[in-house]
Amino acid sequence: MPKVSIIGAGNVGATVADVLAQQGIFGKVVLLDIVKGKAEGKALDMWESAPLRGSDTKVVGVTNDYQATEESDVVVITSGVPRKEGQSRDDLISINAKIVKEVTENVVRYSPDAKIIIVSNPLDVLTYVASITAKKPKNEVFGMAGVLDSARYRSFIALELGVSVRSIHATLLGGHGDFMVPLPRYTYVGGMPLTQLMSKEKIDAIVKRTQFGGGEIIKLIGTSAWIAPGNSVADMVYSILGDCNRILPVCAYLEGQYGYNNVYLGVPAVIGKNGINKILEIELNEEEKAMLDRSYKGVKELMDVVDKMGLF
Ligand code: LAC
Repeated sequence: MPKVSIIGAGNVGATVADVLAQQGIFGKVVLLDIVKGKAEGKALDMWESAPLRGSDTKVVGVTNDYQATEESDVVVITSGVPRKEGQSRDDLISINAKIVKEVTENVVRYSPDAKIIIVSNPLDVLTYVASITAKKPKNEVFGMAGVLDSARYRSFIALELGVSVRSIHATLLGGHGDFMVPLPRYTYVGGMPLTQLMSKEKIDAIVKRTQFGGGEIIKLIGTSAWIAPGNSVADMVYSILGDCNRILPVCAYLEGQYGYNNVYLGVPAVIGKNGINKILEIELNEEEKAMLDRSYKGVKELMDVVDKMGLF
């Protein structure tokens, strides 16, 4: 039976577990946290919901017991401090890099073959930290951001056009930050190009809202979002466990794709049981490439900061 472990039982981690449990197709979900009782309590609450959902997926909570995660098929790392109002995702680097390194060491000790999904922020750079630490094939360690960012983008377009979210197909490139690159030229509404259905002003406004989508939620609630992020991770887990080969934008290691090397950046990829099966490259015009360059630069600068931290 498939096994998924989620490290960090905060809002995002608990939501991933909850969504997977609701889908009811997974053998076992292990939720782990460093705070005593937190994962146990949340997992118990979910298990007590199982009779109402008709789902036999076992959800188990543990306090820092990595042995309980052994031989997981997928491990999701959500550990770290979340962003507060006024903070950028990059402000979290010094504390979260150390946490993610330690967590990854424990994860690979017990699940050397697991596909690892990073969710902690700053996302792209912490995916880099996890990947170096894990010493695994690059296609087995990747980050969740593009699924969330493109879901936000699609939800705003659906709202504006008054059509079903299911009719909106879109992808998005770049880092999970204010310089992420939604791609209106490659956005389709019921198979028709968005650029023919919406004015440039409206598209620009939606692109901007998407880029600052995480911050919009923080302003409203005072803490980082968890429902859309949790569902986004669950989507990726689903594609891995089901070997669905869905095309999802994920944070991946680039070796020449889009003209970049040795960097982790959001790109569309085929996700199946082996993790990233293939990265898809699409043609960009000058404006799109300039936006992606800007995003790349931000991620690369932060990778340099991590390199200087002396973690490795
Ligand atoms: C957000 C966090 C998860 O974008 O980065 O809401």
